[in-house]
Amino acid sequence: MDIKGKAAVISGAASGIGRCAALQLAKRGASVVVADLDEAGGRKVVDEIGAAGGIAVFRRCDVTQTEDLAHTFASCVEHFGRFDIACNNAGIGGDDLFEDTSGAWTRMVDINLTAVIDATRIAVREMRRGPGGAIVNTASMGGLLPMPNSPVYAATKAGVVNFTRSLAYLAEQHNIRVNAVCPSFTDTPLVRKGAGATEERIQELARLVGGILQPDDVAAGIVELIEDDTKAGAIMRVTVAKGRDFAREVRPY
Ligand SMILES: NC(=O)c1ccc[n+]([C@@H]2O[C@H](COP(=O)([O-])OP(=O)(O)OC[C@H]3O[C@@H](n4cnc5c(N)ncnc54)[C@H](O)[C@@H]3O)[C@@H](O)[C@H]2O)c1
Repeated sequence: MDIKGKAAVISGAASGIGRCAALQLAKRGASVVVADLDEAGGRKVVDEIGAAGGIAVFRRCDVTQTEDLAHTFASCVEHFGRFDIACNNAGIGGDDLFEDTSGAWTRMVDINLTAVIDATRIAVREMRRGPGGAIVNTASMGGLLPMPNSPVYAATKAGVVNFTRSLAYLAEQHNIRVNAVCPSFTDTPLVRKGAGATEERIQELARLVGGILQPDDVAAGIVELIEDDTKAGAIMRVTVAKGRDFAREVRPY
């Protein structure tokens, strides 16, 4: 897909990976709906895009609310006259929710998995009205490997991985390509604000997984999956190869 002139909705675009994806897509000439719960952060990203000569609007959206999602995708058509790209990226992290008796883990499932399924369903319905489109879901390496400290998070991301793989058929039937990125440890507020996330702990985790990605590295993977018309149902790993360098690869797992 040639991104220039297309219109995109990115959830979780007020921060981290989503913010970088919004900036990169706008730089390539897409008009962007910056969708997030965080209004102040989202409006800041819209201003950044505008200052760089791009086009974006903010839409407050709680991805766990089906109505919010439907209005957000509809707003893309209202503002830009089209809807070609959806990045279902909003997500939350956290440790040890499995042991948590407060029921907080269900919120993680709602945001990280149920909302991705719901958003994909609505985006596909909208895209079927037109010539097709590209959807990229943000999963995680935690969806491919065990995460003893975050089993619920790992389960949600494994769900996103296999959900995405199962939708490869939409490419042939409706010209809608659904793919996913699986980033490893990435330097974003999600990890910086995590429980016990001291600089020392972050560096220790980074050493354990071989380094830490920058959110722009992951956003570049998202852009690649949107642009590459051969990819459908693909799961792209984005990992640190060596130090600050990173590797992107799509392979069977
Ligand atoms: N940072 C990492 O190490 C890492 C690794 C693998 C995967 N991921 C995934 O990448 C995605 C983006 O995470 P990030 O690291 O950029 O985090 P981040 O905290 O910087 O950004 C997440 C954004 O999602 C928004 N959000 C949270 N709940 C929402 C809701 N209910 N509705 C709408 N927006 C909501 C937040 O306001 C925030 O702006 C997540 O799905 C995360 O699980 C992150």
